[in-house]
Amino acid sequence: MSRPIPTARLDRLLANMGYGSRRDIGLMTKAGWISIDGEIVRDEAARVRLKADLPARLLIRGKKLDPLPGMVIMVHKPLGVTCSRKEAGTLIYDLLPDRWRARDPALSTVGRLDKETSGLILMTDDGDLLHKIISPKHHVPKRYVVTLDRLLNGTEVAAFAAGGLMLDGETKPLLPAELEVTGERSAILTLHEGRYHQVRRMFAAIGNHVTALHRDQIGALGLPDDLEAGSLRVMTEEDVAKVFAVPAK
Ligand code: URA
Repeated sequence: MSRPIPTARLDRLLANMGYGSRRDIGLMTKAGWISIDGEIVRDEAARVRLKADLPARLLIRGKKLDPLPGMVIMVHKPLGVTCSRKEAGTLIYDLLPDRWRARDPALSTVGRLDKETSGLILMTDDGDLLHKIISPKHHVPKRYVVTLDRLLNGTEVAAFAAGGLMLDGETKPLLPAELEVTGERSAILTLHEGRYHQVRRMFAAIGNHVTALHRDQIGALGLPDDLEAGSLRVMTEEDVAKVFAVPAK
């Protein structure tokens, strides 16, 4: 038996999606700004069915509704941007449109990238999905392009693959990780867990130093070539499925 489609009160839905207060939404309906399937909705208390196609059918002053709650976006994080809600400098949340910053439930980053790391980071308002992606139980690999200060010496691949490496200040050994050497001072590292500053600390643990770090893949989802640094894109169901798919070797 298929599950019933949930419904929501129009003014509450739109207020939670950042379109204004419930009073504002009331004024917008009275002004005839909101339509569904071409019909103007004049009652802000009307219940709407939260179907995936609602954003294409519900127009506000002729513009399509933003993605419904349960949205997932990919962001190309530039260097120098912090994955935090309140800190000095540019925050990842500053890259979002104003209305998205006002959403409840709020968009949160799926894990973090350091201020000096660039690349693919996901954001969602779906707490279950967020935990599924970061939990080691689901084995979502994350791939990093690493540039190093010192020459690689040929021992690193085996050292990381063996697992058991202990990071400074930690008591739990690391899971095995795959390193592919791409140059004298460059490599691609795939991790299956996400500890604080993990890539930098792994290389520090074996006597090297990371000078540049970029994440280019989560699961089988690659950072699209046409997604410029500082840009974001709403993810489709297929994109989300790729996060949980096994990446091609
Ligand atoms: N490892 C790091 O050291 N930094 C990141 O941002 C991600 C993984």
